[in-house]
Amino acid sequence: MLTNELDTRTQPTRQKTLSNGPFAGKIAIVTGSESGIGRETARALCRAGASVVLNGRSKERLAQTVADLTREGYSVAGCVADVTVFADCERLVQTALNTFGRIDILITNASISMRAYFADMQPDVFQRVLDSNVYGTVYPLKAALPHLIDTAGSVTFISSISALNGMPSGSAYCAGKAAVANLAHTLRLELADTGLHIGVVHIGFTQNDPDKRVLDADGRPVPIAHRPPRLQKTQAQVADIILKHVRQRRRRTIVSGLGKLNAFLNTIAPRLADWIVLTTLRRWRNLYE
Ligand SMILES: NC(=O)c1ccc[n+]([C@@H]2O[C@H](COP(=O)([O-])OP(=O)(O)OC[C@H]3O[C@@H](n4cnc5c(N)ncnc54)[C@H](OP(=O)(O)O)[C@@H]3O)[C@@H](O)[C@H]2O)c1
Repeated sequence: MLTNELDTRTQPTRQKTLSNGPFAGKIAIVTGSESGIGRETARALCRAGASVVLNGRSKERLAQTVADLTREGYSVAGCVADVTVFADCERLVQTALNTFGRIDILITNASISMRAYFADMQPDVFQRVLDSNVYGTVYPLKAALPHLIDTAGSVTFISSISALNGMPSGSAYCAGKAAVANLAHTLRLELADTGLHIGVVHIGFTQNDPDKRVLDADGRPVPIAHRPPRLQKTQAQVADIILKHVRQRRRRTIVSGLGKLNAFLNTIAPRLADWIVLTTLRRWRNLYE
């Protein structure tokens, strides 16, 4: 739980802002950027000239990431906020406005993942995973929307290739990631006249921080399921793909050949796609569990 004690923000020190990078002068919020892909996306945005508001729930980890990027000479601020709490998201947005004066880019990246079969899962665990992926996307956008419309800015929801089909042991996660993909489509239609870009990036297997944890059926933090290293992209590669997506104001980006094959097969031969999942589930159960 957040307390007011954790309600801190770190002012940026003077920076090596790139005045000629593709994101020069842009102000971005990246949720869940104290670690993992979010941190690398924030770093890549900074390298391309943006100033970034970092976010997470852990005061210590966020302070470390803010310190690291500041030491690298970048223009960052940090706001401890739980993105499943709307009041926290209002504070996150206010941090961006107070520190940098505007918001051009929102990347909703914060997420809790899982490894548990639906039949075993405690209902509140399902809800926590779903909330972090759905309301953790809806609330930051609700809080930032007027400011993003003012700048004809850009919104990117981070989803997963597992939103493109079903994935055993990922029910709440897949449902949440599919929900935000549909939300992006609906909002793009509703907000078509505003000039706001709304897109979704479906990420595939990516190298994880060694301390990354997901929830088991009882809500205990456990290491993520085994992913073959040869199928993983680095966080920096994924961050570059996210930046390209934002720069080109793309509607949908699917990361990795496996992801594109997944999307293709589920469109033209969904039974074959299911057969592949069920076969790999029988033969390489540790890929899922
Ligand atoms: N890694 C992969 O293979 C992969 C594959 C497909 C999609 N993705 C997606 O890529 C994104 C980043 O994943 P990752 O691998 O970098 O995961 P990660 O290392 O676990 O990072 C997720 C970040 O979100 C934060 N977070 C979680 N719940 C939050 C909340 N309610 N409020 C604020 N922050 C919250 C976490 O911090 P705290 O928990 O400390 O608050 C953490 O910093 C996620 O959306 C994920 O679903 C990743």
